[in-house]
Amino acid sequence: MAYYTYTHSALHLRIPSSLSLSNPNIHLPSTRISFQPLRFKGLNAKPNNRFICKAVKSSMAASSQVEIFEKEELAVSLAKYTADLSNKFTHQRGAFTVCLSGGSLINYLRKLLEPPHVDSIEWAKWHVFWVDERVVPKDHQDSNYKLAFDGFLSKVPIPPGNVYAINDTLSAEGAADDYETRVKHLVNSNVIASSSTSGFPKFDLMLLGMGPDGHVASLFPGHPLVQENKKWVASITDSPKPPPERITFTFPVINSSAYIALFVTGTGKADAVHSALRGSGTADKLPAALVSPEGELKWFLDKGAASKL
Ligand code: 6PG
Repeated sequence: MAYYTYTHSALHLRIPSSLSLSNPNIHLPSTRISFQPLRFKGLNAKPNNRFICKAVKSSMAASSQVEIFEKEELAVSLAKYTADLSNKFTHQRGAFTVCLSGGSLINYLRKLLEPPHVDSIEWAKWHVFWVDERVVPKDHQDSNYKLAFDGFLSKVPIPPGNVYAINDTLSAEGAADDYETRVKHLVNSNVIASSSTSGFPKFDLMLLGMGPDGHVASLFPGHPLVQENKKWVASITDSPKPPPERITFTFPVINSSAYIALFVTGTGKADAVHSALRGSGTADKLPAALVSPEGELKWFLDKGAASKL
């Protein structure tokens, strides 16, 4: 597939050349940056072509990327991204700490069960957490643990002790406290890295989905939990998306991560994607617009989710 690739220290935009954007000019809210084509395959390059790209003003991430994929490329790209980071971290630090969300993301991760990834990933060094979890029994159909376990975790040799499900015998508040305590032990034993900048745990990779309302994890627009800045793990009992009782990593933890993939598909999310990436103002920012890891943020979008950019 051919891509137009534009890059800047703060934003990297990669668009399949087959994709016709209705408006090729994507405007920056705060800084106007002209992107020169750096790589151009498959079509005749016009050297004077310029895209004005919109950077995410809120993002303090060292690097932000937005990639728009053909449907069939999404799973392939997400699996490669995850496998490459697994390789990087298992070599660098002997462990790979990855946090999963619920939702449609998990189905796409099944690509990890196929060659070459299934054989090349050092599964024994994976440590799997949940960015957010619904407070239901682990065998309940709403459980994010069950979704991921049935989807791919049960099919790879990750030691059961490295899969950190919530304690489903506790209340939401109890489960959040318990999860935070377990994460603290793992930081103290260096399984999870610690951010020297924030003092919060620094997970190697967080895989986030986004709801049509712009929520990430179980951090919903307008909910006070979005502002939580002390707890590592918080409980919520009035989630607008059912089920109402959940636990969730807070923004300081999410934003201390080394890498975050924000995976969004479907036209039903196009308005929220537009608002998160092109919205201005600070008061009414969607939770998705507040995602800003210490390392790299990468948006994986399909054409539907990107249709209003
Ligand atoms: C949850 C999720 C949630 C999810 C988004 C996207 O438990 O509800 O963790 O944050 O990732 O709502 O879900 P979809 O991709 O299914 O729309």
